[in-house]
Amino acid sequence: MRGTFITFEGGEGAGKSTQIRTLAETLRDVGHDVLVTREPGGSPGAEAVRHVLLSGAAEPFGPEMEALLFAAARSDHVEQVIRPAVETGRIVLCDRFMDSSRVYQGVTGNIDPDFMKSLEKVSVNGMIPDLTIILDLDPVEGLRRATARRGDDAADRYEKEALDVHERRREAFLEIARNEPERCVVFNAERDKAVVADEIAAAALAAIGRRETRKAEAGAA
Ligand code: TYD
Repeated sequence: MRGTFITFEGGEGAGKSTQIRTLAETLRDVGHDVLVTREPGGSPGAEAVRHVLLSGAAEPFGPEMEALLFAAARSDHVEQVIRPAVETGRIVLCDRFMDSSRVYQGVTGNIDPDFMKSLEKVSVNGMIPDLTIILDLDPVEGLRRATARRGDDAADRYEKEALDVHERRREAFLEIARNEPERCVVFNAERDKAVVADEIAAAALAAIGRRETRKAEAGAA
Protein backbone atom coordinates (compact mmCIF):
# COMPACT_ATOMS: atom_id res chain seq x y z
CA MET A 1 0.00 0.00 0.00
CA ARG A 2 3.01 2.30 -0.05
CA GLY A 3 2.26 5.77 -1.47
CA THR A 4 4.76 8.22 -2.94
CA PHE A 5 7.04 10.62 -1.13
CA ILE A 6 8.03 13.76 -3.08
CA THR A 7 10.25 16.52 -1.71
CA PHE A 8 10.87 20.07 -2.98
CA GLU A 9 14.25 21.73 -2.56
CA GLY A 10 16.06 24.87 -3.65
CA GLY A 11 17.25 28.26 -2.47
CA GLU A 12 15.26 31.20 -1.16
CA GLY A 13 12.54 32.62 -3.41
CA ALA A 14 12.60 29.78 -5.95
CA GLY A 15 8.82 29.41 -5.74
CA LYS A 16 8.60 26.11 -3.88
CA SER A 17 5.40 26.96 -1.99
CA THR A 18 3.52 28.03 -5.13
CA GLN A 19 4.66 24.96 -7.04
CA ILE A 20 3.72 22.61 -4.20
CA ARG A 21 0.24 24.13 -4.00
CA THR A 22 -0.22 23.82 -7.75
CA LEU A 23 1.01 20.22 -7.83
CA ALA A 24 -1.26 19.26 -4.90
CA GLU A 25 -4.27 20.63 -6.82
CA THR A 26 -3.26 18.88 -10.04
CA LEU A 27 -2.86 15.54 -8.26
CA ARG A 28 -6.12 15.90 -6.33
CA ASP A 29 -7.95 16.72 -9.56
CA VAL A 30 -6.98 13.30 -10.91
CA GLY A 31 -8.11 11.57 -7.72
CA HIS A 32 -4.95 11.23 -5.61
CA ASP A 33 -5.00 11.57 -1.84
CA VAL A 34 -2.37 14.25 -1.18
CA LEU A 35 -0.77 15.50 2.03
CA VAL A 36 1.22 18.74 1.92
CA THR A 37 3.76 19.34 4.66
CA ARG A 38 6.98 21.30 5.29
CA GLU A 39 10.28 21.40 7.13
CA PRO A 40 11.44 22.47 9.59
CA GLY A 41 8.05 21.61 11.08
CA GLY A 42 5.14 19.55 9.85
CA SER A 43 4.37 17.84 13.19
CA PRO A 44 3.60 19.50 16.55
CA GLY A 45 7.03 18.55 17.95
CA ALA A 46 8.87 19.78 14.89
CA GLU A 47 6.88 23.03 14.70
CA ALA A 48 8.03 23.79 18.26
CA VAL A 49 11.65 23.40 17.11
CA ARG A 50 11.01 25.44 13.92
CA HIS A 51 10.64 28.67 15.81
CA VAL A 52 13.91 28.13 17.69
CA LEU A 53 15.75 27.59 14.38
CA LEU A 54 14.24 30.31 12.19
CA SER A 55 14.32 33.05 14.83
CA GLY A 56 18.07 32.53 15.09
CA ALA A 57 17.81 31.60 18.79
CA ALA A 58 19.98 28.50 18.22
CA GLU A 59 22.57 30.27 16.05
CA PRO A 60 24.91 31.34 18.89
CA PHE A 61 25.31 27.68 19.89
CA GLY A 62 26.91 26.78 16.56
CA PRO A 63 26.10 24.88 13.38
CA GLU A 64 26.25 21.42 15.02
CA MET A 65 23.57 22.46 17.49
CA GLU A 66 21.41 23.71 14.63
CA ALA A 67 22.02 20.52 12.63
CA LEU A 68 20.95 18.41 15.63
CA LEU A 69 17.79 20.47 16.04
CA PHE A 70 16.91 20.12 12.34
CA ALA A 71 17.50 16.38 12.72
CA ALA A 72 15.35 16.17 15.85
CA ALA A 73 12.54 18.01 14.08
CA ARG A 74 12.91 15.76 11.01
CA SER A 75 12.83 12.56 13.04
CA ASP A 76 9.57 13.59 14.72
CA HIS A 77 8.05 14.70 11.40
CA VAL A 78 9.05 11.45 9.64
CA GLU A 79 7.70 9.15 12.36
CA GLN A 80 4.56 11.13 13.26
CA VAL A 81 3.44 12.35 9.86
CA ILE A 82 5.35 11.27 6.74
CA ARG A 83 5.76 7.52 7.30
CA PRO A 84 2.16 6.93 8.48
CA ALA A 85 0.82 8.84 5.45
CA VAL A 86 3.06 7.09 2.90
CA GLU A 87 2.34 3.69 4.44
CA THR A 88 -1.39 4.18 3.98
CA GLY A 89 -0.90 4.92 0.27
CA ARG A 90 -1.03 8.72 0.32
CA ILE A 91 1.11 11.06 -1.74
CA VAL A 92 3.19 13.27 0.50
CA LEU A 93 4.58 16.57 -0.83
CA CYS A 94 7.17 18.04 1.52
CA ASP A 95 8.58 21.58 1.32
CA ARG A 96 12.30 20.91 2.07
CA PHE A 97 13.74 17.73 3.57
CA MET A 98 17.12 16.02 4.01
CA ASP A 99 18.84 17.81 1.11
CA SER A 100 18.30 21.16 2.86
CA SER A 101 20.29 19.84 5.82
CA ARG A 102 23.01 18.49 3.52
CA VAL A 103 23.29 21.91 1.87
CA TYR A 104 22.56 24.51 4.58
CA GLN A 105 24.19 22.71 7.53
CA GLY A 106 26.59 20.31 5.77
CA VAL A 107 28.04 22.44 2.99
CA THR A 108 27.57 26.06 4.10
CA GLY A 109 27.70 25.20 7.82
CA ASN A 110 31.03 23.39 7.26
CA ILE A 111 29.99 20.42 9.35
CA ASP A 112 31.98 17.19 9.25
CA PRO A 113 30.45 14.99 6.50
CA ASP A 114 30.49 11.85 8.70
CA PHE A 115 28.58 13.66 11.43
CA MET A 116 26.02 14.83 8.83
CA LYS A 117 25.69 11.31 7.40
CA SER A 118 25.00 9.85 10.84
CA LEU A 119 22.40 12.51 11.58
CA GLU A 120 20.71 11.92 8.22
CA LYS A 121 20.60 8.17 8.77
CA VAL A 122 18.97 8.52 12.18
CA SER A 123 16.52 11.27 11.27
CA VAL A 124 15.40 9.96 7.86
CA ASN A 125 15.37 6.36 9.08
CA GLY A 126 14.88 4.87 5.62
CA MET A 127 12.23 7.36 4.48
CA ILE A 128 14.18 8.41 1.35
CA PRO A 129 12.08 10.46 -1.11
CA ASP A 130 10.90 8.70 -4.28
CA LEU A 131 11.38 12.00 -6.12
CA THR A 132 13.13 15.25 -5.23
CA ILE A 133 12.24 18.33 -7.22
CA ILE A 134 15.02 20.92 -7.15
CA LEU A 135 14.00 24.44 -8.18
CA ASP A 136 17.10 26.14 -9.50
CA LEU A 137 17.38 29.92 -9.64
CA ASP A 138 20.07 32.59 -9.67
CA PRO A 139 20.27 33.66 -5.99
CA VAL A 140 20.19 37.36 -6.94
CA GLU A 141 16.74 36.81 -8.44
CA GLY A 142 15.71 34.44 -5.62
CA LEU A 143 16.56 36.96 -2.91
CA ARG A 144 14.81 39.72 -4.86
CA ARG A 145 11.65 37.60 -4.97
CA ALA A 146 11.96 36.60 -1.30
CA THR A 147 12.34 40.26 -0.27
CA ALA A 148 9.35 41.35 -2.37
CA ARG A 149 7.21 38.54 -0.89
CA ARG A 150 8.19 39.39 2.67
CA GLY A 151 7.19 43.05 2.46
CA ASP A 152 8.01 44.78 5.74
CA ASP A 153 8.75 41.58 7.72
CA ALA A 154 12.36 41.01 8.77
CA ALA A 155 14.54 38.51 6.83
CA ASP A 156 14.89 35.17 8.62
CA ARG A 157 18.13 33.63 9.91
CA TYR A 158 18.96 32.06 6.52
CA GLU A 159 17.63 34.65 4.07
CA LYS A 160 19.90 37.38 5.40
CA GLU A 161 23.17 35.58 4.69
CA ALA A 162 25.67 36.87 2.10
CA LEU A 163 25.17 36.28 -1.61
CA ASP A 164 28.21 33.99 -1.93
CA VAL A 165 26.68 31.67 0.66
CA HIS A 166 23.51 31.45 -1.45
CA GLU A 167 25.66 30.77 -4.54
CA ARG A 168 27.41 27.87 -2.75
CA ARG A 169 24.04 26.43 -1.78
CA ARG A 170 22.84 26.59 -5.36
CA GLU A 171 25.94 24.66 -6.48
CA ALA A 172 25.49 22.13 -3.66
CA PHE A 173 21.89 21.35 -4.67
CA LEU A 174 23.03 20.89 -8.28
CA GLU A 175 25.77 18.54 -7.14
CA ILE A 176 23.29 16.40 -5.19
CA ALA A 177 21.21 16.17 -8.37
CA ARG A 178 24.25 15.10 -10.39
CA ASN A 179 25.12 12.42 -7.82
CA GLU A 180 21.58 11.06 -7.46
CA PRO A 181 19.96 11.41 -10.89
CA GLU A 182 17.44 8.62 -10.25
CA ARG A 183 15.95 10.55 -7.32
CA CYS A 184 16.47 14.23 -8.23
CA VAL A 185 15.17 16.35 -11.10
CA VAL A 186 16.30 19.97 -11.55
CA PHE A 187 13.91 22.61 -12.93
CA ASN A 188 14.98 26.05 -14.10
CA ALA A 189 12.74 28.23 -11.89
CA GLU A 190 13.52 31.42 -13.78
CA ARG A 191 10.87 30.54 -16.37
CA ASP A 192 7.13 31.14 -16.37
CA LYS A 193 5.66 29.35 -13.38
CA ALA A 194 2.89 27.64 -15.38
CA VAL A 195 5.52 26.05 -17.64
CA VAL A 196 7.51 24.86 -14.63
CA ALA A 197 4.32 23.54 -13.01
CA ASP A 198 3.49 21.42 -16.07
CA GLU A 199 6.95 19.86 -16.06
CA ILE A 200 6.78 19.19 -12.32
CA ALA A 201 3.37 17.53 -12.72
CA ALA A 202 4.76 15.25 -15.43
CA ALA A 203 7.73 14.24 -13.24
CA ALA A 204 5.46 13.63 -10.23
CA LEU A 205 2.96 11.55 -12.20
CA ALA A 206 5.83 9.48 -13.60
CA ALA A 207 7.17 8.85 -10.08
CA ILE A 208 3.69 7.89 -8.84
CA GLY A 209 3.33 5.60 -11.85
CA ARG A 210 6.65 3.88 -11.09
CA ARG A 211 5.52 3.32 -7.49
CA GLU A 212 2.19 1.88 -8.60
CA THR A 213 3.89 -0.46 -11.07
CA ARG A 214 6.15 -1.74 -8.31
CA LYS A 215 3.12 -2.22 -6.05
CA ALA A 216 1.29 -4.19 -8.77
CA GLU A 217 4.35 -6.35 -9.40
CA ALA A 218 4.71 -7.07 -5.69
CA GLY A 219 1.00 -7.97 -5.55
CA ALA A 220 1.30 -10.33 -8.52
CA ALA A 221 4.41 -12.08 -7.15
P1 TYD B 1 11.10 28.77 5.39
O1 TYD B 1 10.56 30.00 6.02
O2 TYD B 1 10.31 27.54 5.49
O3 TYD B 1 11.43 29.20 3.94
P2 TYD B 1 11.73 28.63 2.53
O4 TYD B 1 11.68 27.13 2.54
O5 TYD B 1 10.64 29.26 1.71
O6 TYD B 1 13.07 29.17 2.19
O7 TYD B 1 12.56 28.61 5.97
C1 TYD B 1 13.22 27.46 6.15
C2 TYD B 1 14.67 27.82 6.29
O8 TYD B 1 15.34 26.78 7.01
C3 TYD B 1 15.35 27.94 4.93
O9 TYD B 1 16.14 29.11 4.91
C4 TYD B 1 16.26 26.75 4.88
C5 TYD B 1 16.50 26.37 6.32
N1 TYD B 1 16.69 24.92 6.52
C6 TYD B 1 17.93 24.45 6.90
O10 TYD B 1 18.86 25.23 7.09
N2 TYD B 1 18.10 23.11 7.11
C7 TYD B 1 17.09 22.20 6.95
O11 TYD B 1 17.27 20.99 7.15
C8 TYD B 1 15.80 22.71 6.56
C9 TYD B 1 14.64 21.77 6.39
C10 TYD B 1 15.64 24.07 6.36
